[in-house]
Amino acid sequence: MKIAVLPGDGIGPEIMKQALRVLQILKNDGLSIEWEEGAIGGAGYDNAGDPLPSETVALTKQADAVLLGAVGGPTYDCLPRAMRPEQGLLRIRKELGLFANLRPAVVFPELAAASSLKPELVEGLDLMILRELTGDIYFGQPRGRRKTEAGEDEGFDTMKYSVSEIERIARVAFDIATKRTGKLCSVDKANVLDTSILWREVVTKIGQDYPSVELTHMYVDNAAMQLVREPKQFDVILTGNIFGDILSDEASMLTGSIGMLPSASMDVNRKGLFEPIHGSAPDIAGKNIANPLATILSVAMMLKYTFGETEASDRVETAVRAVLAKGFRTADIHQEATRCVGTEEMGDAVINEMR
Ligand code: IPM
Ligand code: MG
Repeated sequence: MKIAVLPGDGIGPEIMKQALRVLQILKNDGLSIEWEEGAIGGAGYDNAGDPLPSETVALTKQADAVLLGAVGGPTYDCLPRAMRPEQGLLRIRKELGLFANLRPAVVFPELAAASSLKPELVEGLDLMILRELTGDIYFGQPRGRRKTEAGEDEGFDTMKYSVSEIERIARVAFDIATKRTGKLCSVDKANVLDTSILWREVVTKIGQDYPSVELTHMYVDNAAMQLVREPKQFDVILTGNIFGDILSDEASMLTGSIGMLPSASMDVNRKGLFEPIHGSAPDIAGKNIANPLATILSVAMMLKYTFGETEASDRVETAVRAVLAKGFRTADIHQEATRCVGTEEMGDAVINEMR
């Protein structure tokens, strides 16, 4: 099993270091894995003048999975769009065909009080957002700047989905729902957008192949509201790229600990890119206070989804849960009567549990 490791920017390198310690333990214990590092985002720009250097593309194409830290930082904000760190991320998604983005929002029992919602609303929450990742207004052409008839400048983008794009993400959603509680809510804006009308038709049609899944549809504005009103009504949410971008940030906040959530972006062959959902947090980079658990849990997701190594995956996840139960907390999830530790110490704690 070959892993391309892309630490990226900001806190990326320090949280990745802890994830690699976890991988090293698994390797020492007999898991046949190897990894090689590459540059992406601002680090790619600094190294090779490109947020996604061609060597990195080659490395990720050879690998069976990609583990990513985070990209972005204020020093790159003034660059032209094509050179900005986010482009590295968008391009690697497209290059590797990572159309299925799984973003779980799980509330760990010890952290229910950290949510901005009342604990009883979020206790036990275990939600999966499945976001389509390579289509929609993010990639639709034409896009750009032009003049209106009146000679005014305007910016424009194109929202679109083809039937085949909707079908393949819908099938992933139904498969996931089948393995969970069998409830799937597809989110769109079919009261306004043609793209969404087609989306709803196609998802409904695919649903006929999955009679055991209870499919519902919801408009995105209502879904945004329902997520903070009664989040536990959802199990799997299926949605397009832009709606999924927004709703997954909202859902992550329900858990009160964005520093805890991993994500997976998969291609048709289950090759995946795994990354924490939080950003590069440049303000706390290099201070040894960032939470490495989302990256460590991304390792667990990688082991499970791409490599089918359920036992190793469980071992990592169990260690993280045990560490929380023992009261270890990084600053972002620190509460009274728990033990505030740094990035490195949190890594130590996980590794001790694994041992
Ligand atoms: C995300 C991020 C990215 C996106 C940005 C950084 C391009 O917000 O992964 O959700 O919009 O997809
Ligand atoms: Mg986002």
